[in-house]
Amino acid sequence: MKEILVTGGLGYIGSHTVVALAEAGFRPVIIDDLSNSRREVLDGIAQITGFRPAFYAYDLRRRHQVKEVFEAHPDLAGIIHFAASKYVGESVEKPLLYYENNICSLLNLLNEALAAGVHPFIFSSSCTVYGEPEQLPVTEDMPVQPATSPYGNTKQIDEEILRDTAAVEPLRVIALRYFNPIGAHPSALIGELPVGVPQNLVPFITQTAAGLRDELKIFGNDYPTPDGTAIRDYIHVMDLAEAHVTALNRLLEGRNKENFEVFNIGTGKGSSVMEVVKTFIEETGVDLPYRITGRRPGDVTAVWADTTRARKELGWTARRTMAQALRDAWQWEKKVRNIEK
Ligand SMILES: NC(=O)c1ccc[n+]([C@@H]2O[C@H](COP(=O)([O-])OP(=O)(O)OC[C@H]3O[C@@H](n4cnc5c(N)ncnc54)[C@H](O)[C@@H]3O)[C@@H](O)[C@H]2O)c1
Repeated sequence: MKEILVTGGLGYIGSHTVVALAEAGFRPVIIDDLSNSRREVLDGIAQITGFRPAFYAYDLRRRHQVKEVFEAHPDLAGIIHFAASKYVGESVEKPLLYYENNICSLLNLLNEALAAGVHPFIFSSSCTVYGEPEQLPVTEDMPVQPATSPYGNTKQIDEEILRDTAAVEPLRVIALRYFNPIGAHPSALIGELPVGVPQNLVPFITQTAAGLRDELKIFGNDYPTPDGTAIRDYIHVMDLAEAHVTALNRLLEGRNKENFEVFNIGTGKGSSVMEVVKTFIEETGVDLPYRITGRRPGDVTAVWADTTRARKELGWTARRTMAQALRDAWQWEKKVRNIEK
């Protein structure tokens, strides 16, 4: 069984990917400093998969800790790098934290990976690199727009670091540009647990439905979209997790066409905020008080993925619906809050 290093493997997307890796016959090895996750996530992973991955509560900014993990696992076959600070708003307040964490961590990891001869590398990028796209759906060839936050900038800089390094070193990289991951594992044993007030729509919806928040704020209904609310491409986190396994296999089997490749990972379908809210109410039967407020600075009008390249080249397509993701997110929220209904 091949060992795969998963940084940030106890976080939201990382934990679901660890499950998908274990189910595909890999042995994930996790580094996570617990800055935005909890140790108990490991129990959820073990319950789902029957396998408890090796776990290091290490900080990737400390190069000696990264080195120690490569030394303890000399047969690593590849790396999936999720660990990063991810809050757009916080990145505006604390730019140095974001540049340090998201860039130094990558540099340490790359240096140690190359020293250890581990070359397949999957990177968590984001559709935020496209900004407000000139054309929809957005393809991978569309221009990367100037970043509107330090967080967004770190993703662009990281992609450049990886592209430049893969041009001269034996590194083989796939950058996955995620659209909007939502939902949870259907077992409700792992899911998304944001710290503080959620920045994303679906955790805000489920927390409001659970009574933790008085009402859902909908940021703007005057966008030039059919119902006036912003449009995004919501992808079930398990579909996203499986995309990592598919991309990893492409690198492990040497099927990559270039040493730095980029894929959009979305469903190819845009849904408005209002559609998500209505679907949640329909699917769960739970009342959801909401109020329209002004637009939130930095939000784009609409973005959804052209998934042709992922389908043709990777052989991956999202299989789950937005409704299913909302049901799973709600099961998870109820489990976390001990709600019986
Ligand atoms: N969730 C999204 O909507 C989204 C969208 C696009 C891209 N991404 C990217 O995907 C990746 C995973 O996102 P997520 O939503 O799972 O976030 P998350 O915060 O749940 O997971 C990241 C994990 O990395 C850990 N971590 C952070 N800094 C670390 C360090 N220096 N050393 C070790 N561990 C560290 C955190 O404790 C956390 O468990 C991130 O790189 C994020 O930027 C997320």
